[in-house]
Amino acid sequence: MCGIVGYLGNQDAFPILIKGLKRLEYRGYDSAGVAVLSENGQLEYHRRKGKVDDLLQHMEGKVPDGNMGIGHTRWATHGPPNDVNAHPHLSGDGELALIHNGIIENYHALKETLVARGHTFYSDTDTEVLVHLIEEIMKSSEGLDLFEATRVALNEVVGAYAIAVVDTRRPHELVLARKSSPLVIGIGDGEFYIASDAKPIIEYTKNVVYLDDEEVARVSLSSGLKIRTIANHKVTPVITELEMAMESIEKGGYEHFMLKEIHEQPRSIADCLRGRLRLGHETIRMAGIDDHEEMWAEAKRLIIVACGTSWHAGLIAEYMLEDFARIPVEVEYASEFRYRNPVIGKGDILIAISQSGETADTLAAIRMAKEKGAHVFGICNVVGSSISRESHSGAYTHAGPEIGVASTKAFTAQLAVLALVAMRVGRLRGALDQLRFNRLLVELDAIPEKVEALMKSESKIEALAELYKDRPNALFLGRGYNFPVALEGALKLKEISYIHAEGYPAAEMKHGPIALIDENMPVFVVATKDAHYDKVVSNIQEVKARGGQVIAIVTRGDTEVATMAEHVIEVHNSDDAFVPMLSTIPLQLLSYHIAVKLERNVDQPRNLAKSVTVE
Ligand code: M6R
Repeated sequence: MCGIVGYLGNQDAFPILIKGLKRLEYRGYDSAGVAVLSENGQLEYHRRKGKVDDLLQHMEGKVPDGNMGIGHTRWATHGPPNDVNAHPHLSGDGELALIHNGIIENYHALKETLVARGHTFYSDTDTEVLVHLIEEIMKSSEGLDLFEATRVALNEVVGAYAIAVVDTRRPHELVLARKSSPLVIGIGDGEFYIASDAKPIIEYTKNVVYLDDEEVARVSLSSGLKIRTIANHKVTPVITELEMAMESIEKGGYEHFMLKEIHEQPRSIADCLRGRLRLGHETIRMAGIDDHEEMWAEAKRLIIVACGTSWHAGLIAEYMLEDFARIPVEVEYASEFRYRNPVIGKGDILIAISQSGETADTLAAIRMAKEKGAHVFGICNVVGSSISRESHSGAYTHAGPEIGVASTKAFTAQLAVLALVAMRVGRLRGALDQLRFNRLLVELDAIPEKVEALMKSESKIEALAELYKDRPNALFLGRGYNFPVALEGALKLKEISYIHAEGYPAAEMKHGPIALIDENMPVFVVATKDAHYDKVVSNIQEVKARGGQVIAIVTRGDTEVATMAEHVIEVHNSDDAFVPMLSTIPLQLLSYHIAVKLERNVDQPRNLAKSVTVE
């Protein structure tokens, strides 16, 4: 949600912090701030409501001087976005400055205690309480330095945090900590780069240390990196090498990251299949399953947990797994699952799907499943993310960094991985015969090329966007494998264009939503030639009979729907299970072009954040 950056070294900190904040702005963008510490311990800080550019504008002519600093881009939880609530927050004596991503759940009780001890607060944030708490501990326990006081303070904190703190009395030292919110430390040559994820770090160094939960770190120019747990156990830092390429975090000539990411899908799906789909060998190789064959063969049940678009991928996976592997599957919103008392335990496999690998509810769901004895298989895009590290086994989607808030290439890569899982498990359990398996391999292998061909429809889709951009509502319908595609189409449209949209199973329409249909309602129907085709055609007739305007996604060469629909967009044919990887693309392009025409901020839509690390 919020983004954190930090720098300690010999270079000017400010430009590095600002560049880092811009790379992290996709995480949260309602306010931004920086604090820079000069060699003689002079702290200069600036905070501003709005984007990083608003902060820069506000700071014109006031570039702070110093080789150490911290920066923050905020997604508001406690208190509205304004200059006062923006980070960094300062201790009462002004000696400490702190930035925070997460939520301090017991901030109210802590605040009351601190107020009773004479502390005054200026913001509505939970974060300000934490910096005062560290200050109070430093004052009341003579001799505790920033690192120790932070460690002690965090023992009193309930909630989630990734923090960076500076102390004007120690201008060569930065203190960091994390619990449930990510934090990465880049190790340079005599310098350190801190960030919520690797994107701001990659251009400086490939060597990083991922801080683990309940760890506190001190980075110092004289003594390097030291880590302890908040319970005061020594931790030996493990350096990991980043694999990310710089081009993957640039727009590469596209107007928006979202458009770039839509166009990357032929490549990202191919990358996801590479080395796993082994056409010549008539097999699928996936380490996360190969290493646990018996467990998958004997699993009683699969439970899929995810949020948002990843949950839609989970719904499609349910159909695939039931079809190919004949195993009972449940798909749950992570946020609902974790607050029930679900029946889950040994013999169950929980599949967690998450692009970021940091979604708080999904992370909490896997922890709960682990406690209850289930095996957790994580499907993540971000390498080294919390969910990928906390899962027992798993598979990366290899889609590359996804920076647009609206998920596009991560979704189709999730579908590709889930198709591989379903087929592999289907063979393991003897539910999928070799002949059908081989046919599926061929179909899956052909998907990247078919996605590429779809990009040719973009100008037609852009013209449709012009026609429908001013409609206040839209309905998306689909059946079978295309029902979650309808949900995903509606989510894409509403999140980036702010048009109200609903996705429905086409047959459910007559149980309520049909009342919404009139000549002003565009109805986007996914009507590809699959097992439900005839039924969907009947649903289209029902819409037409009530004056609705139908825009249909159809299989190439379809002539029947074309006679009923106002407009059709063609996709190639494939196995029903793989069609969502195709039928979703026109809907992504449609949402994108509508949002652009409405002059929305496509990559950073209002109120949203890419990585939802609060519950
Ligand atoms: O990183 P995750 O896949 O766990 O994120 C889940 C959702 O927050 C995410 O899919 C969200 O719904 C996107 N904005 C959809 O485009």
